[in-house]
Amino acid sequence: PASLATTFLNHTYENPFMNASGVHCKDTKELNELDNSKSSTFITKSSTSLKREGNPEPRYFSVPLGSINSMGLPNEGFNYYLKYVIDRQQRMPKGNPAFFSVAGMSVDENLKMLKAVQDSDFNGVTELNLSCPNVPGKPQVAYDFDLLGEILQKVFEFFTKPLGVKLPPYFDFAHFDTAASILNRFPLVYVNCINSIGNGLYIDIEKESVVIKPKNGFGGLGGEYIKPTALANVRAFYTRLNPSIKIIGTGGIRTGGDAFEHLLCGATMLQVGTELYKEGVSVFDRIERELKEIMEKKGYTSIEQFRGKLRTL
Ligand code: DOR
Repeated sequence: PASLATTFLNHTYENPFMNASGVHCKDTKELNELDNSKSSTFITKSSTSLKREGNPEPRYFSVPLGSINSMGLPNEGFNYYLKYVIDRQQRMPKGNPAFFSVAGMSVDENLKMLKAVQDSDFNGVTELNLSCPNVPGKPQVAYDFDLLGEILQKVFEFFTKPLGVKLPPYFDFAHFDTAASILNRFPLVYVNCINSIGNGLYIDIEKESVVIKPKNGFGGLGGEYIKPTALANVRAFYTRLNPSIKIIGTGGIRTGGDAFEHLLCGATMLQVGTELYKEGVSVFDRIERELKEIMEKKGYTSIEQFRGKLRTL
C-alpha cells in the first residue's frame, strides 16, 4: 500500500496536506477542527500586530472554477494565534509542528512580529506572507525585488527559527530568476507557491455587476483557474532554489490528481484553500484517498519515488 508520509524539517508528517492560510483558520474553533481532521498539520490566518476587521462584505465569492476574495486580512491579532500554537505545543510537546503566518502592513510591523516569535516559546514553523493582494494602497511586497531582499536581510539579522515565505505568482522567466537569486541568499526553510493571483475580476452577467464589494470587485483568484500558474511557480522555484529550501505547493488542489501534479513539480507539503472552503475539512479524507489510489495504480509506495521527477519532452 502507498504511504503519504512526508518529512519536512525534522518531522515526519502523516501526509503532505494542510490548509492554505486564510481558509478555515481564523479562530480557535476552526483551527481545532483542522487539528482534528485528516490534514497533517495546519497554518494560522496571517496575522497583523493588532486585530483587524478587514474589508467590507461581501468579500469572498465561490464560483464554479474557483474563488475570488478581497478579505483584507481580517484577523484576531498576532497574540491570539501565537498563544494558540504555543498552548497546543505545551499540550502535545512531541506533536506535529504547526505553521504560524504573519503579514504585517510594513517592514517594521513584520520585523516586530518576527522578533516576538523569535523571543517566544513557539518552536514550529513561521510563514512570512509577502504576497497579500487585498489591502487597498499596499502593493504586494514580493513584486518589489529590492524590498524583498531588504526585508529578508533585516529578518535574518536576528531570526533563527524555521522561516518560510509565501510568494505571489510570477509570470516571466526573468522574474523567476531574479526572485530565486534573492531567496537563495537566505537560510529560508521553504517558499510557498502561490498566494492567490492578485486582482482578477469576476462578473455576474445577470446583474451586470461585480461579485465582491472591496476594490470595486477586484480580488485574488484561487481554485481551478490558478492551477497551471501554481504548478509553473512550484516547478520554476524547485529547479532554481538551493535544495535546502523546500517548496510548499498551493493553488488549485481539488483532487488527488492535482496533488500528484504538485508533487511531480517538486512540492514537499501541499496546501488546500478554495476547495477546503467549499467542502470543509472532510476534503482531506477524499484527496488523500484519491492520491493513494493514483500512487497504487502506478506502483508507487512512497512520495519520494516521484517527487520532482516531472518529465520534459
Ligand atoms: O488571497 C488572499 N487573501 N491572500 C492573502 O495573503 C490575504 C487574504 C486576505 O485576507 O485578503
